[in-house]
Amino acid sequence: MKITAIKGFSDIFPGAVETWQWVEEQARRVFAAYNFAEIRIPILEKTELFSRSIGETTDIVEKEMYTFEDRDSRSADTTDVTKLTLRPEGTAGVVRAYVESEMYKVEPVRKLYYMGPMFRRERPQKGRMRQFHQIGAEALGRGDPFIDAEVLLMLGDFFRAVGLETVALELNSLGCADCRPGYRRRLLEFLKTREAALCDNCRRRMERNPLRVLDCKEPGCRHQTKTAPSILDALCEPCREHFAVVKKLLSEAKVAYELNPRMVRGLDYYCRTTFEWTSEHLGSQSAVAAGGRYDGLVEELGGPPIPGVGFAMGVERLTMLLRMKDSGAPRGPSVYVVWIGEKARDWAFPVVHRLRREGLVAEMEGETRSMKSQMRRADKLGARAVLIVGDDELQKGQALLRDMASKQQQEIALAEIVAKLISGKAS
Ligand code: HAM
Repeated sequence: MKITAIKGFSDIFPGAVETWQWVEEQARRVFAAYNFAEIRIPILEKTELFSRSIGETTDIVEKEMYTFEDRDSRSADTTDVTKLTLRPEGTAGVVRAYVESEMYKVEPVRKLYYMGPMFRRERPQKGRMRQFHQIGAEALGRGDPFIDAEVLLMLGDFFRAVGLETVALELNSLGCADCRPGYRRRLLEFLKTREAALCDNCRRRMERNPLRVLDCKEPGCRHQTKTAPSILDALCEPCREHFAVVKKLLSEAKVAYELNPRMVRGLDYYCRTTFEWTSEHLGSQSAVAAGGRYDGLVEELGGPPIPGVGFAMGVERLTMLLRMKDSGAPRGPSVYVVWIGEKARDWAFPVVHRLRREGLVAEMEGETRSMKSQMRRADKLGARAVLIVGDDELQKGQALLRDMASKQQQEIALAEIVAKLISGKAS
């Protein structure tokens, strides 16, 4: 019997993987310009890390984590067990690493980014996987609004670099420990007057987490909460000022945004600025990137009171959008060598080797095939140029170079081929 992959887990095959690599490269380039450095953190962490940071009552911690018991290697009798979890997100691990290594003692301001797989046992659907990939960034040690704007501008620059202009930024502020409890109370009072009309899920979670009701996708709940008090009217003065500066900096940088006071996010660590970049082309799972500020998290995980802000984007959703607009990494070899006759093959083999050494993507066959079949293959692979050599050409000391897009052909001297192809490498 065939063994299949686990539901919600996918392979990423050649053909798609090039876009992933290209996206990762663009992220590295853009993030480096903002002075972010890469951190690589474990995929497996103690369960407590996530329950404490993401929040005990969130969907992620309540229902979606891959958790198992492992014998505790520290204890001699090995009867103690430690609960371990496949990371459902990256922020908790980055903050744990920052606190554990005491990075902040040398320099509290750290700008870190990461990429890799995350795991959530959600119901798989378009744009929602059980193993998915994030590229995320966290700026630790700065509480000022300039860094919130910086992180958003960086993400905007990244979207521009990959050619995604259609994503829209939704912005909110969730206030802080001073102003959110008062808002929460008022919202709960409001929700109680409409309790009977809310969905089962919202009625159940209303007391524990009334803000999540605002985020419910049920039309009935959306209708009922239309006139709910807005968090943006409830912010304390410092939160209001902080948010005003973020908005001003975005406007000055010509980054368009829409305020969405209903956005509450599915993780509990947020305060103040929160955001989602969405695309209408993604269907119901419309967020391609999301994040916000989490000023209490470092302390919650045993560090000093150090603020933080960051985001993560979903690489599956991002590459899905890139595929839709047919952009992304250039595909196929830069040159495919079509050879006719053994002499031509023996000439071509070391030439292809030299081209590859120079960083060109070059390809050729090893077995005799008709010219037609080799041309078809070049086309199928998406080669940008084809170099045609036969024994006749060899005798004349020439080969034919065909540009596959323009269909133009030119003869070039064999001795000049490598130099000529390398000089056109960037094109
Ligand atoms: P999040 O909103 O849970 O935030 O996830 C960020 C992004 O990951 C989403 O916008 C989406 O693109 C992608 N994503 C999430 N779940 C799935 C899934 N099941 N399948 C496919 N893609 C998914 C966080 O994870 C926070 N750690 C972000 C953050 C960083 N906040 C501050 N710093």
